[in-house]
Amino acid sequence: MIRLENVSKSYNDKMILENINFEVEQGDRVVILGKSGSGKTTLLNIIATIDSNYSGNVYLFNNYLSKLKNSDIAKLRRDQLGFIFQDFGLLENFNIEENILLPSRSAGKDIKKDEYFNKLIDVLNIENLLKRYPSELSGGEKQRAAIARAIIKKPKLVVADEITSALDIYTSKELIIYLDDVVTKFNITLLMVTHDLEVARVCNKVYFIRHGHLIELDNLNSAEKLFYQESNEG
Ligand SMILES: Nc1ncnc2c1ncn2[C@@H]1O[C@H](COP(=O)(O)OP(=O)(O)O)[C@@H](O)[C@H]1O
Ligand SMILES: [Mg+2]
Repeated sequence: MIRLENVSKSYNDKMILENINFEVEQGDRVVILGKSGSGKTTLLNIIATIDSNYSGNVYLFNNYLSKLKNSDIAKLRRDQLGFIFQDFGLLENFNIEENILLPSRSAGKDIKKDEYFNKLIDVLNIENLLKRYPSELSGGEKQRAAIARAIIKKPKLVVADEITSALDIYTSKELIIYLDDVVTKFNITLLMVTHDLEVARVCNKVYFIRHGHLIELDNLNSAEKLFYQESNEG
């Protein structure tokens, strides 16, 4: 579904990603862990077609991105990718229901409040928040709404960047339970980047990024050791 071939990127002569080779298959739940500044967002933005300034090849849903026109890439991003961000990204002037339905409308798939919508808001427990505005929600509630917005258009892939960073530890744990449930029930292919080992528990494939390289790990205990090593390196 996704394949990176020798992807490299540097900023001002500083190598951030060095010859990354990486694959995601349909149904995978992948997490890329790493310290702040290790290049997680840089890598995710390349895969999510936000950043096209890199060397190497990215293969996404049967296409090499370099072979597609910009308009086709924009369409792919709009229709096939769901995004969840650290800062929720909800539009303040729209209520929660409108926020959730907007992306499906702009994708030209007029998914109204059908069975899929009802199941989604039920699993995420946001039924009674639909008429409220983002400013009237807690961080955890906003992130649940943002998850619904990412999934409503039935994307092929959901990408998530540090989705628990703005939440306290209890709300994070609660969000992880909701995320796990929704990813399972809706059979989501998930690619997350985070420095939070807790949220990584939702995933079944674990990678660690450091010094521009991606290392595949057997389990989260190995990730914990690598974080520990990194903090000792200073
Ligand atoms: N637009 C940019 N210009 C210059 N350097 C950048 C830019 N964006 C990110 N960087 C640098 O690239 C490195 C990786 O950043 P990032 O991918 O955001 O890390 P992470 O998401 O793992 O915290 C950092 O050293 C950061 O300072
Ligand atoms: Mg980041």
